[in-house]
Amino acid sequence: MLSFICNNEEMTVDCPGGLPVLDWIRSQTGLKGTKEGCREGDCGACTVVVGKPGTAEIEYSAACSCLLPIGEIAGCHLVTIEGLTTGDELTPFQKSFYDEAASQCGFCTPGMIMSLTGCLLGSSELSVSAAMESLDGNICRCTGYVAVRRAVDSVMNELPPKWDNRLKMLIDKGHVPAYFRTVSERLKKLPVHETSENGTFIAGGTDIYVHSSDKLSDEQPEFLSRRDDLNFIRRDDGLVRIGASVTFKQLRESPVITGLFPGLKGFLSRVSSTQIRSRATVGGNIVNASPIADLAVVLLALDASVTISDRSVLLSEFYLDYKKLDMQPGEIITEVSFPPPEPGSVLSSLKICKREYLDIASVNSSILFRVENSVIRRARISAGGVSPIPLLLVKTGEYLRGRIISEETVMEACKLASSEISPISDVRGSKEYKEELLKAQIRAHLTRSATQ
Ligand SMILES: Cc1cc2nc3c(=O)[nH]c(=O)nc-3n(C[C@H](O)[C@H](O)[C@H](O)COP(=O)(O)OP(=O)(O)OC[C@H]3O[C@@H](n4cnc5c(N)ncnc54)[C@H](O)[C@@H]3O)c2cc1C
Ligand code: FES
Ligand code: FES
Repeated sequence: MLSFICNNEEMTVDCPGGLPVLDWIRSQTGLKGTKEGCREGDCGACTVVVGKPGTAEIEYSAACSCLLPIGEIAGCHLVTIEGLTTGDELTPFQKSFYDEAASQCGFCTPGMIMSLTGCLLGSSELSVSAAMESLDGNICRCTGYVAVRRAVDSVMNELPPKWDNRLKMLIDKGHVPAYFRTVSERLKKLPVHETSENGTFIAGGTDIYVHSSDKLSDEQPEFLSRRDDLNFIRRDDGLVRIGASVTFKQLRESPVITGLFPGLKGFLSRVSSTQIRSRATVGGNIVNASPIADLAVVLLALDASVTISDRSVLLSEFYLDYKKLDMQPGEIITEVSFPPPEPGSVLSSLKICKREYLDIASVNSSILFRVENSVIRRARISAGGVSPIPLLLVKTGEYLRGRIISEETVMEACKLASSEISPISDVRGSKEYKEELLKAQIRAHLTRSATQ
């Protein structure tokens, strides 16, 4: 039995914890505003907003309900498009979409309104650009985005410049109904449900649900995201430590991470979409072992180690072969850690894909370097999409140390990198193209380092 609040109603349901929320909404509630499109986290039509009790108040974020197991929302507030109003009135975003002709067939529209509402309720910043970014996981195939942009502009420009209480301001402006005020107290009264302790591990579910949704629908998985002991970002014992269940959203907003690597926030905004980043975890990105996993490539450049039970393994030795890891079934990664970079170090991360947002890389790469008087004192370089595993380019890094940045250095580094990789031709490009992409990225990294 699982208890949660769906819109304004307390619910207790008897179903497997692995059932996707989308299937529960559409088959059990009669609420049909949440649409089923791709079932792979790619279109955003199924977007809902989930409110989790946080330390001070409820933390809301948008999520794809097709990749969200229902066990994850136990004790939470699930908001669908029907929960944004209590009568016939429209929210300001619904009204502006109508006024600006931002909806044609309407299939994508509820998902867009939910993403925008997730931004209003949970984004660290409220601005036109933050609202537009919140739509990076919503695809519209008929209206296009110009009218959507007009609709977003008109609503965001109407928000007051200052407020004391964000939820009160949003209720007063009609973005969410007054019942939102009562949700926090009502959630505290719901029965607590423990997660299963021997099911399939699910962290954010954004990888495993893409390929195993049907199988997991009947299971009671073990929800790693519900474990507080896996959710932390801190500096201690001379290391930066990140719990395995930290999400990409948390990483982007962490002062520890952005303080060390100011440029990383921009790179992380190109990882998946707002809905996926609110769920996708660090541990899932590493264990998923995709050769183009964006965070794995960054962490390799940072000389990271993973902690599995009571042992620690260098990430560069953790990947044994394509999707083969130095980890036994049943083991979990608890944290990833790395030494804080020496003062003056810079992390540069690049990703080239077929489209700018919501796409995985054809080739990605990261370099941690420190340059003194034009001489490279430190360089650790990694790349994805060019081998069966996320790869540390050991020889290229060694070559760069002690060199002055020059055209000759760039050419030689590119030559060495080519000798370290083994790309294959696939839907993301031919092997020759991927080799050229990596060379272009190395050139760009070194040009950046020359200007530091
Ligand atoms: C639309 C879409 C876009 C995406 N775009 C990108 C992208 O741009 N870049 C990118 O790198 N990835 C992308 N991904 C892939 C995915 O979101 C990430 O790899 C994400 O980090 C996976 O984390 P998760 O917590 O959701 O993993 P889950 O799906 O929960 O788990 C993945 C696997 O890891 C295991 N696992 C999870 N945590 C642990 C742990 N702590 N210990 C042991 N095993 C564990 C699970 O059992 C499962 O086998 C995208 C996915 C989607 C659906
Ligand atoms: S149905 Fe397309 S993202 Fe969920
Ligand atoms: S309005 Fe038709 S898909 Fe967006």
